[in-house]
Amino acid sequence: MSATIIDGKAHAARLRERIAVQAAAFAGAAGRAAGLAVVLVGEDPASAVYVRSKGKATIAAGMESFEHRLPADTDQAALIALVDRLNADPAVDGILVQLPLPAHLDADAILTRIDSDKDVDGFHPVNVGRLMLGLPGLVPCTPYGCLLLLQDVLGDLTGLDAVVVGRSNIVGKPMAALLTAASATVTIAHSRTRDLAAVVRRADIVVAAVGRAQMIPGDWIKPGATVIDVGINRTDAGLVGDVDFASAVEVAGAITPVPGGVGPMTIACLLRNTVVAAARREG
Ligand code: GUN
Repeated sequence: MSATIIDGKAHAARLRERIAVQAAAFAGAAGRAAGLAVVLVGEDPASAVYVRSKGKATIAAGMESFEHRLPADTDQAALIALVDRLNADPAVDGILVQLPLPAHLDADAILTRIDSDKDVDGFHPVNVGRLMLGLPGLVPCTPYGCLLLLQDVLGDLTGLDAVVVGRSNIVGKPMAALLTAASATVTIAHSRTRDLAAVVRRADIVVAAVGRAQMIPGDWIKPGATVIDVGINRTDAGLVGDVDFASAVEVAGAITPVPGGVGPMTIACLLRNTVVAAARREG
C-alpha cells in the first residue's frame, strides 16, 4: 500500500492565508505593517534563492521586507553594527541572519546579538531556554512547521513514539523539545546511535534531519508510520531528502516529499513568527 503524500505546499498556503489576515489586523491596529529584515552575507547561490523567496513571501503576506546584502568579506564588527541598527529600528519586528555565514565570522556571537524579541529564527539562547522551559517565545521555523504537519496528519500526538534523526541546534534539538511538549515519547538519534535501523523501526513518527541523501531506507520504517523528511540534498539526480522516498512511500502511512514537504512550511512559520513578534512588541 502506498502512503498518503503530505502536501506541504498546500498546508503552507493555508497557513499563509491565516497569517495575511493577522498581518492585516496588526497593520490596522498599529498603523504600520509588520517588518522582517533578512541579512545575507556573501553570494552562496542556495542562500540567495532562500532570501529572495523569503522577501517575496513577506510582501505577499502584507508585511514589509528589508533586505540587507553584504559582501562576503564583511567583518564581524560591520555585521554586529548592522544587527545593532536593526535591533534599534522600530519598523523592524523580526531579524533573520541567513546561515551559513562565511567561515571568518562568528555565527554564535551574531545570533546572540539579535534582540531576542526580534529573533524570528528562534536561535537566540533566550528563546532556546524559553522553549525548553515551556515559556512563550519564538520557536525555530523548520521544526515548528514539522510539528504543524504532524498534528494535521495525526491530531493529538500524546503517547506516540517519535524518533528524531539528527541533533542540530536548528532542527533536531528544538524538534525533540516540541514533540516532548506535545506529549510524544521522544528519542533523539544521531550519527553515533547504535543500531539506528532498530531505533527507527520503533517509531510511530520519524523526523529525518541528518543531511545525508536517502540514508533512511523504507525497510527501517514501521508500517503505517508518519515520516517527515527535513533533508534537502543536492545530488546528480536532483534534490532528494534524507529518506529513500521510493521505498518508504510503500511502507509509511504518510510521508512528506522533497521538495514540496517541509520547505514551504519553514517560510510560512517565519512569517508567523514575524507577526507574533510584531504583536508582542506593540502589545
Ligand atoms: N539556513 C538554512 N536554514 C536556515 C534557517 O532556518 N534560518 C537561517 N537564518 N538560516 C538558515
